[in-house]
Amino acid sequence: MSDVPVKLRAEILAQRAYKQGKPAPANSFKLSSNEVHFPPLDSVRGAAKDFSAMNRYPDASAGLVRETLAEHYGVGVDNVIVGAGSVSLLYQAVQAAASVGDEVIYPWRSFEAYPGMVTLTGAKSVEVPLRRDGTTDLDAVADAITERARLIIVCTPNNPTGPAVGQREFEQFLEKVPEDLLVIADEAYIEFVTDPNALNATRILADHPNLVIARTFSKAYGLAGLRVGYMLGHPSVMQAFATTAIPFLISAQAQAAALAVMGEPEAIRARVNEITARRDEVRRALLDQGWPVPESQANFIWLPCGEQVEGVDAILREGGIIARAFPGDGIRVSIAEEESVTPLLAACWRAIERYPYLRAEESPAE
Ligand SMILES: Cc1ncc(COP(=O)(O)O)c(C=O)c1O
Repeated sequence: MSDVPVKLRAEILAQRAYKQGKPAPANSFKLSSNEVHFPPLDSVRGAAKDFSAMNRYPDASAGLVRETLAEHYGVGVDNVIVGAGSVSLLYQAVQAAASVGDEVIYPWRSFEAYPGMVTLTGAKSVEVPLRRDGTTDLDAVADAITERARLIIVCTPNNPTGPAVGQREFEQFLEKVPEDLLVIADEAYIEFVTDPNALNATRILADHPNLVIARTFSKAYGLAGLRVGYMLGHPSVMQAFATTAIPFLISAQAQAAALAVMGEPEAIRARVNEITARRDEVRRALLDQGWPVPESQANFIWLPCGEQVEGVDAILREGGIIARAFPGDGIRVSIAEEESVTPLLAACWRAIERYPYLRAEESPAE
């Protein structure tokens, strides 16, 4: 770090800045960031194009968005906070909960932003390995709780592997968690869940004051570029998280778009249904090829590649597929336009032929 001209925190310098999904070259499909490929709905685009008051600050508390969400979920306005994407709310939550010497527990591999937000507070990340099949081991998470634990984050469905935790499984897990230990269910992909037994944490929110739910308009609702997410939880916890916010982050345009998109449930449902049907088709085809793809409840699938990530990623790129590669582990591919399916499956076939031991039954680690 000798090229840094000023004194900065060593643990921050040691970290890598958040890496965005690669831009897609022309004639390829950008399947690297779990965005939806659909263009914005006309009503949403219309609502977001009023810039006439840009000389004024936006509503800092996103009051109308909170009210609408509160009504939708049947909770009080005080149970809801809105942020510039759910990632900013997660940062706020970690800062409110943890500090030097504390521990933040989360299953790993999971959302890449978790380690950085913990490091920022001076707390320690306790990463609990996923099971081999990409599912979350909640017993192991419970076993990792110590006196120093201040927060547990459970991402479900899990980014990047895809499986969701079960409703009953999560309820049993909460029984083992001390009542004063904060648990965040990061449900960024909840709208894509089709398994009726999967967790929907809103069903049990009222019974667990230590539970907070993070959700977003970035994925199913297609507002990734405008940055709006929200949390649901106990009023005093929401209030504490609000105090760590950078003020005025949610633009008036973003708030208007969020309100408009909440008025389009049928259109959003139709889009989500298209994605989830395609997800299941793609997974079936990949399983037929021999890829051990975990069952995904999100808008992406996971290709376990071990040491062959770079090789498989290169084959995907040559085939016009820009995916998200996690060296030494696997590749996450977002499910998007229909036209991407044939080139994706063709490239995956070439990759599994090139590296046949990646097939489930031939995996060297089995
Ligand atoms: C699991 C998970 N949580 C949170 C986020 C943050 O999304 P946003 O800040 O756009 O709401 C993402 C984005 O990829 C994610 O995958």
